[in-house]
Amino acid sequence: MSVVILDFGSQYSRLIARRIRELQVYSVVLPGTTSVTRIQNENPQAIIFSGSPKSVFESDAPLPDPAVYDLGLPILGICYGMQLLARQFGGDVADAGTRSYGADELIHYEGDLFDGLVGPLPVWMSHASSVQRLPKDWVTMAATRENPHAAIASPNGRYVGVQFHPEVVHTPNGEHMLSNFLDAAGVSRDWTAEANVERLIREVKERVGTDRALLAVSGGVDSSALALLLAQAGVEHDAVFVDHGLLRAGERKEVEAALRPLGVNLRTVDAADRFFDALAGVTDPEEKRMIIGREFVHVFHNEAQRVGKTRFLAQGTLYPDVIESAGGEGAANIKSHHNVGGLPANLGFELLEPFRTLFKDEVRDVARLLGLPDSVRLRHPFPGPGLAIRILGEVTRERVDLVRRADAIFISTLKEAGAYHLAWQALAVLTPIQSVGVAGDERRYGHVIALRAVTSVDAMTADWARLPYALLDRVAQRITRDIPEIGRVVYDITSKPPATIEWE
Ligand code: XMP
Repeated sequence: MSVVILDFGSQYSRLIARRIRELQVYSVVLPGTTSVTRIQNENPQAIIFSGSPKSVFESDAPLPDPAVYDLGLPILGICYGMQLLARQFGGDVADAGTRSYGADELIHYEGDLFDGLVGPLPVWMSHASSVQRLPKDWVTMAATRENPHAAIASPNGRYVGVQFHPEVVHTPNGEHMLSNFLDAAGVSRDWTAEANVERLIREVKERVGTDRALLAVSGGVDSSALALLLAQAGVEHDAVFVDHGLLRAGERKEVEAALRPLGVNLRTVDAADRFFDALAGVTDPEEKRMIIGREFVHVFHNEAQRVGKTRFLAQGTLYPDVIESAGGEGAANIKSHHNVGGLPANLGFELLEPFRTLFKDEVRDVARLLGLPDSVRLRHPFPGPGLAIRILGEVTRERVDLVRRADAIFISTLKEAGAYHLAWQALAVLTPIQSVGVAGDERRYGHVIALRAVTSVDAMTADWARLPYALLDRVAQRITRDIPEIGRVVYDITSKPPATIEWE
């Protein structure tokens, strides 16, 4: 059971999916023009049309498969989605001339969507066109001072449109409205962590059967949770932890100590030489990722040959990895996450990616139920390519050592101050810059380390963490004192977008 979100190009489509999942309903984002047959594969109980940067009357405006209306399912149209409904059922939509953007207020409203709400309702608008005339027998459900059709409904109430964005936090009752829509649509709320674990175990058992899966463990929550999932599903597995020489300080021991006692068949492979050789002289970020992806696969092949009869390569790939590597349908390639875009075409394994549709916080919930200790479960995420993508320029053992030591100081200082969870992720980056400083009476020409700490929910967007100055000060002092090669420490104050969390 699910809610399908047809994405007509809105920046908010993923956010709609998140909101619906927070309401304990599985939701999936598909391109707006997806065929009805494909939509039906998702077994939807309701459909949401997203917004769009386009206007419905542009000649290249994206349109849904007309058969979507034959499914007999409730549809909620948001912004462009509402205008689409209005136009396809014979109403008029016109360009307002100016873009209406920002906070507004519903002064009149009625109907299921607004059940339980009282008083003027703040809503967030972002649109250039608006509905001028409703389709025959449709009704207005809400109005703002300027806009008489801020929400509309079809005669039988099956189709509902809202001009505002209920999915954004600037519409404070938006989640309540979405919840009302789900109730009115009779959608079952069965997307819970418990149900997820049960489903995942069942699916893994069915898919792997009596075959064997090789699992790439990185030490992060995703692959660790996956290792536990395979162990609890009782399938034959070999969890391979590749020490590529690009791990954080102490990481290897921590991971081994957390997973072995929980029934995971874990083997650590020393592969640092192979990774450093392959990365020698490489400075381009995408090239680094491709090389690392390739080397991982090489190690896995060796391991698979050693054990024999391996059919699957299991990975802790998440929904955002898929979306951002353009593995999702209709998304742009931002960077090739080593485990998605970085894999060679002739992999030689079937991929087993049970978390492919989950957001990170959902995996953390699953991991809790599977019994992963909080020390691993609540750890800051760490990318598969490791410290290599935190070194701008060439990756050498010396440079890895510098960034590893800086990272260890940053993280341990955060922990000592009880500030580790002020950040969703914190890291140090070795920049390719050297700068002049003074140490004692000597001139020092040292490396520049950038610290980055962000707040986020699912890594799709992030803001820089407002860490206390005193704390940043302590980190900078410790780094420059304990690592003489580093002469300067800077703090990254860019959000995502426009930046990404990692620097490469
Ligand atoms: P970005 O830099 O894309 O990072 O904003 C979002 C989150 O993903 C992590 N990340 C990766 N994880 N393989 C991974 O397993 C990768 O290639 C990769 N690249 C980025 C990053 O640490 C952050 O948590």
